[in-house]
Amino acid sequence: MNKRFVIAIDGPAASGKSTTAKQLAKRLKYVYIDTGAMYRACGLCTLLQDVDLDDEIALKKMLDTISIKIKYAKNGNRILLNNEDVSTRIREADITKLSSQIAVIGIVRKKMVELQRKMGENGGIIMDGRDIGTVVFPNADFKFFMIADVKTRALRRWKEARLKGEDISLEKIEEELIWRDKNDSTRDISPLKQAIDAIPIDTSNVTIDQQVDMIYSIVVE
Ligand code: CDP
Repeated sequence: MNKRFVIAIDGPAASGKSTTAKQLAKRLKYVYIDTGAMYRACGLCTLLQDVDLDDEIALKKMLDTISIKIKYAKNGNRILLNNEDVSTRIREADITKLSSQIAVIGIVRKKMVELQRKMGENGGIIMDGRDIGTVVFPNADFKFFMIADVKTRALRRWKEARLKGEDISLEKIEEELIWRDKNDSTRDISPLKQAIDAIPIDTSNVTIDQQVDMIYSIVVE
């Protein structure tokens, strides 16, 4: 397989995108780009610089100088915001909510899409998010749309939270997922939706290995 493809994976929170994308990238020797981490870093930046989401001038000023980099590492990519490693901080609950709130803003999306297109211009990438197959790379070589029922997704996130030592109930996680799904899929700009030419993958009842195998075989064949 000589051609270096662009592979887009979209879907709602905890549908299995990043786990699949990471493993697939390893097998194909591709670069994995987590665009959700970029919206998270952007949200964190507004907190650090005390920028009000309604203040378009301040937001624009922040975006003009923002630097978001992905540092590729064998044991997991690191996210650098203005040259500082924010990989752990951006996974905290306040930033999760903020990332979805900031992702509805046009100038933010314009900037992120610009960065993402640049990162993927040479192919050999797997990019996951909400609008990769619809907006960022509408001509991607492969598009997948991952789904899973909300109970399964909430349970996955609850298990992850417990492993990190966080004390949060399954109900609260489910509530937050439902809020985010709604916010992401009903916004005016680039809402979460399946591209017409995307292949749907339901991960509710399959193992991680099975979902990676499924996509791997489609790409390789
Ligand atoms: O990992 P998880 O599925 O929880 O979320 P994420 O992929 O890290 O994305 C965080 C938030 O960023 C999402 O809820 C979306 O609001 C936003 N996002 C987006 O709007 N477009 C993307 N391409 C990726 C993420």
